[in-house]
Amino acid sequence: MFDNNIYNDWGFKESPFSKKPLHSNETGDNLLVGRDEDIRKLALKMISSDAAVCLDGPVGAGKTSLANVTIYKGMKNFLVKGVPSPLLLPCARSFQIKPEQSADELKFEVLIEVAQALIDNASKLQYALKIGGSIEVNAWLNSPLINQWREGVASMFANGDGGQVNEGVGFSKSGFEKVLTNWLEKIFPGGQNGGVVCVIDNLELLEKSAEARKKIENLRDTLLNIRGIKWILCGAHGILQGVITSPRLAGYLQEPLPIKPLTLKNAGELFNRRVNFFKIADEVDQYLPLSSRDFHTLYTILQHNLRICLSYAEDYCMHVSMHGLKPQSDAEKSQIFFGWLKERAKGIYEGLRPHAGETAIKLLCMAASSSDMEGEFSPGDHDRLGFSSLQAMRPHVKTLEDCGLLSAQKDDLDQRRKTISITGKGWLIYWYKVTLAQN
Ligand SMILES: Nc1ncnc2c1ncn2[C@@H]1O[C@H](COP(=O)(O)OP(=O)(O)OP(=O)(O)O)[C@@H](O)[C@H]1O
Ligand SMILES: [Mg+2]
Repeated sequence: MFDNNIYNDWGFKESPFSKKPLHSNETGDNLLVGRDEDIRKLALKMISSDAAVCLDGPVGAGKTSLANVTIYKGMKNFLVKGVPSPLLLPCARSFQIKPEQSADELKFEVLIEVAQALIDNASKLQYALKIGGSIEVNAWLNSPLINQWREGVASMFANGDGGQVNEGVGFSKSGFEKVLTNWLEKIFPGGQNGGVVCVIDNLELLEKSAEARKKIENLRDTLLNIRGIKWILCGAHGILQGVITSPRLAGYLQEPLPIKPLTLKNAGELFNRRVNFFKIADEVDQYLPLSSRDFHTLYTILQHNLRICLSYAEDYCMHVSMHGLKPQSDAEKSQIFFGWLKERAKGIYEGLRPHAGETAIKLLCMAASSSDMEGEFSPGDHDRLGFSSLQAMRPHVKTLEDCGLLSAQKDDLDQRRKTISITGKGWLIYWYKVTLAQN
């Protein structure tokens, strides 16, 4: 009963619709589609400047995946070419800035992960380095300190508080920081030599760009200035635009690189790539209850939010399996798939009707159907959305936000910034309303 998940039964090693970001590894590199140009730009930005790179793009469009895979490609490039190519080392996890966390607490969290990245990659590079590294890189790879660190960092992970830990290997919080920064400076004497790359993700969760800006300013002298660590900051809803205007951060952050959602063509390719990658074997027949075309249409309905698209595809697979359905032809698959999607949308719509009145739904539909808004608007757009004032529009935005159909930033710095956007769920409801009207 517990041995085979639905995808094993359908001829796959695991779900082709995982919604987790792609990692900095071979699998991530294999699965990433349609980002050649973005990789080129991001790599250039990373190796040409010490300032942090900012990735600005819609929620779920693939910013973290792009960052992770580009870093991995940077590491692979070094393994093939050696010095003087820059060495980019991925950090195993990304970081989020929490409102309650101090800059020092985050710094300690980051340094532990950076040390771990040096340790983990040391053993990988020891075996894989084809061409001799620089003296410093070799010294690091062969240093007895690597083993000592492994123990010390493990005990820091266990203790978490960063106090006086593991006296046996002479580790204290400040001693650790000193040794680590020394190594980083030796291994990566200049920005062009690369660095351990850390990703700060989901800055939009701080909601206000003033808040995000203050938090990043506080990191300037604790983290952003450490030699040998390179930074990528990811944010949606233009929050980074508010951050880079800070005079205190001038020279520390690069102009944001806009990340667009994947094109429709790429969404189809993503589906086929995953089917091929996760299949158990060529000889085994694979089965999925939706076709690449259905996936493509779903991606259009959800206005190119890849994460939600993958998530709905997975929910649908579960539904089909739970109900013992197994549509065979593409036409049959489409019929069952869109029937399910409609029922799901209807359930959500009926659930929110007691809360969201006609005016709120009309506001959603107007923002969705306006070709120049493309689902994003600012408070100043109230007259174009049929409201006499911002005050008149505000309660309806709030209702739609509470229902999860809009995502609104409570802002502040730049009144022209588009701070309100339709979520994946909002686009699904819009599709439902349009489909109802057509039938
Ligand atoms: N270029 C790509 N090729 C294939 N799959 C991708 C690509 N980009 C993203 N994905 C997939 O889409 C989903 C969302 O990607 P990711 O988490 O990187 O987006 P994001 O922009 O960082 O989202 P958020 O704004 O919520 O942080 C993940 O499941 C990821 O595997
Ligand atoms: Mg992300």
